[in-house]
Amino acid sequence: MALLQRPFFVLLLVLTHQFMQYWIAFGSVNEEGQKQEEEFNEELLLKPLPDRKVLAHFHFQSSAPPSTSNGRHHHIFPKAISQLVQKFRVKEMELSFTQGRWNYESWGGFDPIPSSNAKPPGVELWAVFDVPQHQIDASWQNLTHTLSGLFCASINFLESTTTYSAPEWSFPPASGNLRYGTLPREAVCTENLTPWLKLLPCRDKAGIAVLLDRPSIYRGFYHSQRLHLTSTGSGSEGMVSGIILEQTLTVVLQPNSQRAGMAYASERHIQPSWSLTSIFGKQVSGTCVLAKSSNVYLLLDRGLVAELEHLHKENEKSAENGFTSQNFWTKPSFELSADPDRIFIEENSLHSKGSSVLYKFQVEKYSESEPFDLSLTWKIPVVWLSQQAPLHASRFLMGSGNERGAIAISLKSTQLSEGFMGANADDERCDLQVNVFQVVPWYVKVYFHSLQVFVNQQPKAISDIIEKIHVSPSKDKVSPGVMEMVLKLPCKVNSAALTIEFDKGFLHIDEYPPDANQGFDIPSAIISFPNFHASMIFLKDDSVNKSPLLSKFQEKSPVMSYTEALLVPLTTPDFSMPYNVITITCTVFALYFGSLLNVLRRRVAEEERFLKEKAAKKTGRLSLLLSKLSAKLRGRQWEPPSSPPASSSFINAKLVFKVILVAGLAVGWQYFFS
Ligand SMILES: *[C@@H]1O[C@H](CO)[C@@H](O)[C@H](O)[C@H]1NC(C)=O
Repeated sequence: MALLQRPFFVLLLVLTHQFMQYWIAFGSVNEEGQKQEEEFNEELLLKPLPDRKVLAHFHFQSSAPPSTSNGRHHHIFPKAISQLVQKFRVKEMELSFTQGRWNYESWGGFDPIPSSNAKPPGVELWAVFDVPQHQIDASWQNLTHTLSGLFCASINFLESTTTYSAPEWSFPPASGNLRYGTLPREAVCTENLTPWLKLLPCRDKAGIAVLLDRPSIYRGFYHSQRLHLTSTGSGSEGMVSGIILEQTLTVVLQPNSQRAGMAYASERHIQPSWSLTSIFGKQVSGTCVLAKSSNVYLLLDRGLVAELEHLHKENEKSAENGFTSQNFWTKPSFELSADPDRIFIEENSLHSKGSSVLYKFQVEKYSESEPFDLSLTWKIPVVWLSQQAPLHASRFLMGSGNERGAIAISLKSTQLSEGFMGANADDERCDLQVNVFQVVPWYVKVYFHSLQVFVNQQPKAISDIIEKIHVSPSKDKVSPGVMEMVLKLPCKVNSAALTIEFDKGFLHIDEYPPDANQGFDIPSAIISFPNFHASMIFLKDDSVNKSPLLSKFQEKSPVMSYTEALLVPLTTPDFSMPYNVITITCTVFALYFGSLLNVLRRRVAEEERFLKEKAAKKTGRLSLLLSKLSAKLRGRQWEPPSSPPASSSFINAKLVFKVILVAGLAVGWQYFFS
């Protein structure tokens, strides 16, 4: 019976499985009868940077609609993430792993890419929870442990209350249920990238992710791997909320220029030509079959477009043929290996500096036999500048010695921002709002009363400049110090600086990290400009709205930048001292027990015989012969020489004296050091 039943059971299982797959693939139907499916989109944005480098920004988005059933079964959405969201009731979360520092001066600080993808070195994690106030900390702690396991990183160190804080309003996604923590010293490597790639339905085996060649990525100047998730509210009771998971990887790479040897003046400024093969060593041979869309974009930023337009006009003038109606992209100064499927032009009259141009390439059109390998070859030299945030922020330490010091945040006008200030830049009352968010570890004891503000190098009254300030002082070994400020600077400001003094605390010997002499990191401060929005608006079009990357660009997010992480040297004990003590004590013990054992093992009779033999040997053949000779000469009978007067009692006394000396030394040593 059982044998007969088994095939039937298996058949039933297979049928159910097939049906389930079909059902899941078609997703659930929401109230409006509109079909909502799990979706996956893959996109890559390439952008030439002014300092002969190339930015590659990978953007993968998976989304799961709210439903009653998706909590258990997922077609393409990663299950680990949906379980995490449901278990800890995460409303929004962002985790980033970064190596290197984003160069705001040459890579820009105003576009959506630096604003949301330039991250501080190491790990940064923030999360907003949908739980009652008293449970937030517990949820955060459990979340850090889960993420630590998921991403093979020491994110669990963020569990300790000394490492995370709760910004109230200066961190952009601010809300009461936010927790924010960073680990500036975390090293980022492929072991963190692999679990991140596992969340993609095709991993790095198909589609655009094939380009993620580890050696090329980690050879770059900057790489930041980010995971952002938002849970979209569930409509009714009992529904599982939908989740949008955004995974981005931003890398800045240096293309290998074939013309590196050229040193002619005209060649020096020509940008290096590159292709996907030359920067990643790989090509895209088709899409990930599970992806709804798979596109590659090439972005020319505002500064570059303005420069190209200018060059184009000059050319037209010198040619004097009257054709001025053509735009530069119809007769470009560079060559693309593939024809773009669409060209988007930014419609943004706010910026006086021209508008960005975006070329779109659809990967669907390419296949294994005809892989996609975009290459860009420059024909003329171009020099341009990226758009900067209104103020460039940097932070440094002042003072010397191991006792106290000061932190300074300096803001310098980039002089390039006049365009965005609008007409009211000349207005006396025009203000530039700057939000500053700074966390300091508890062992850096900041004196908040010592805050000083300088505008254009002149000291100013705090109340004139600081509109709002929120300070939560640190508690020893419990919580870090948090400072949130809103500054109102005059629009025409050239430079501003904030300084604050601190004392260096002492740590218990157990609290020192390995290699404490390296110094202690103070996490990056966050400077944001709430009145400036890093958005890029392209012509209203369906294809723009369908692309998650481009819709992300249209979002109005404030311009944000991170300062450098600081390294503070603290007083560290001499960790070699215990080692020295241990070594010397061990030596003394070894001497003591060694000689004691030596004495105990010796036998007196053997010793005597040994000494006799030795004495016999000592009177060598020559002296024997000499004595024989002298005896003959004297005419007397030769007698063998008598043994030396070595008495056993004498030896014993000598040995006992030695032992007592060593023992006395050891005891004296012990007494002296205890
Ligand atoms: C966190 O984890 C602990 C131990 O596993 C558990 O007891 C606690 O209920 C969890 N808290 C939350 C808020 O999930």
